[in-house]
Amino acid sequence: MAKRDILIGGAWPYSNYYLHVGHLASLLPGDIIAKYYRLCGDNVMYVSGSDCHGTPITERARKEGTTPEKIATKYHEEFVKTFNNLGFEYDRYSCTMEDYHKEYVQKLFKLMYENGYLFEKEEKQDYCENCKIFLSDREIVGTCPHCGGASTGDQCEVCGHSLDSSEVLDKHCKRCGNTTVLKDNKHLYFKLPEFQDELQKLIDKNKNKWRKNAVGEAQKYIDMGLVNRAATRQIDWGVPVPIKGYEDKRIYVWIEAVLGYNSMGAYVAEERGIDFDKFLSDDNPNLTTYYVHGKDNIPFHTTIYPALLLSLKKNYRLPDYIVSSAYVNLNNEKMSKSKGNLITANELLDMFDSDTIRFYFSFKGPETNDMNCSLEDITQTHNKFLVGALGNFVNRNLSFINKKFDGIIKEATIDEEIKQETEKAYKEIGEYFEKGEIRNAVSRIVEYIMLGNKYYDSKEPWVKAKENLEEFNNITYTCTYMIANLSNLIAPILPKGSKKIKELLNLPQASWEPIELFGDYKINNLKILYERIDNKD
Ligand code: MF3
Ligand code: ZN
Repeated sequence: MAKRDILIGGAWPYSNYYLHVGHLASLLPGDIIAKYYRLCGDNVMYVSGSDCHGTPITERARKEGTTPEKIATKYHEEFVKTFNNLGFEYDRYSCTMEDYHKEYVQKLFKLMYENGYLFEKEEKQDYCENCKIFLSDREIVGTCPHCGGASTGDQCEVCGHSLDSSEVLDKHCKRCGNTTVLKDNKHLYFKLPEFQDELQKLIDKNKNKWRKNAVGEAQKYIDMGLVNRAATRQIDWGVPVPIKGYEDKRIYVWIEAVLGYNSMGAYVAEERGIDFDKFLSDDNPNLTTYYVHGKDNIPFHTTIYPALLLSLKKNYRLPDYIVSSAYVNLNNEKMSKSKGNLITANELLDMFDSDTIRFYFSFKGPETNDMNCSLEDITQTHNKFLVGALGNFVNRNLSFINKKFDGIIKEATIDEEIKQETEKAYKEIGEYFEKGEIRNAVSRIVEYIMLGNKYYDSKEPWVKAKENLEEFNNITYTCTYMIANLSNLIAPILPKGSKKIKELLNLPQASWEPIELFGDYKINNLKILYERIDNKD
């Protein structure tokens, strides 16, 4: 079979605060799918980066009296560490501040312009006649219409209300203090409505591949009526608009960030010496694309991004799979920074092993509905499945052999039915991963572990050890075969556990193929796979 080409785009988190469990739950499927396809030996391009432009970052910088660049860099570096600690393996994780991205996006933006999908529109905007510049929201000072306090063009400094610059009273230029005037300013707009029919066709075609919430949100968005979208903004933090007469403007952050899938993909392609345009071509028969993000990102990935791709007229593949997650609640409450109940991924990593976190958020992930998360539930899930089911299966087998047979697993005959069950498990779990159905995949893995424990219990090897050594060896070899294969099957979810099992039995690197056993095995240095977590911890 030809190798498959897999593009996985993980959403780009805004680098204005730490990653929280919501990011974690929505982005984890991307890493799992990437790991799965790598095990299959396919060509995987799993790309993402930090979304460094846009107002959330400029806001934060202003509040902290620092520059957007410093804020963005700080959190970008944090993200890289956190993703590493969670066991994420991107083929490239970069940020929107890098030159390669900026230049690539400018190239695409120009192309959209040349193809006629960007048009100029005049609109009244605040202008300083003294400085002779259009003022971005942050360059305006004025009075808040709600409390009468001092405000900028977009937010009151006193009561915190977000404001539209048109409602701000008594506006002045921040630099020189001159009263602002309204003057016609030109902006570029993207002709989103032109793609209405093609976007509808896309939804209809992929409605069984996209997650339900993606199909629903995309349809809602189209039904509301698509409108032309601003493609440029009057700010200075962002990617400069590469078109004459627009030098003082920046590309609207959403267009810029979402095109990061292309800039990062092109970068990786260049490194690998392949042609990205051919890779992402709709005519590439081996290609499947996945876009992985949270619910609030759905319209951008199901309508705006596909429309941008179409506007490039490069025959790029439109999203095959939309792996969009709902929200994570904490102790049955909505999480938010303002409520102060936001759990960051770093805080979780301080309390739990990354495998525990990965297992929890893939087994109980918010695939169709919001999920409720609590520390007790993570603890219980860990104890029940990682310790009680998986760890127990590995440990009861291997420690018995360690104690009674010096850790030597004798070559014997593997149960034919278990062999077939194992092959079936690879096939079915693989299909779930390919469909982005991570919860189903994990449930199926758990089912396989249960089968192992059931087999062990029903065969009573501890009795056979005394009565019938040949049968004991068959049972043990069969269980070892299951343990060996579990090290592959769990690898996308539990990379550390997989590695530990491989070390115990000296197994080859993980792959998505049944492991056959040959000859005797010697157990290396048996350690418990997962420690029970005490509630009090
Ligand atoms: N930064 C956006 C957010 O956190 C996501 C952008 S995803 C992208 O909601 F692909 F468009 F960059
Ligand atoms: Zn001025």
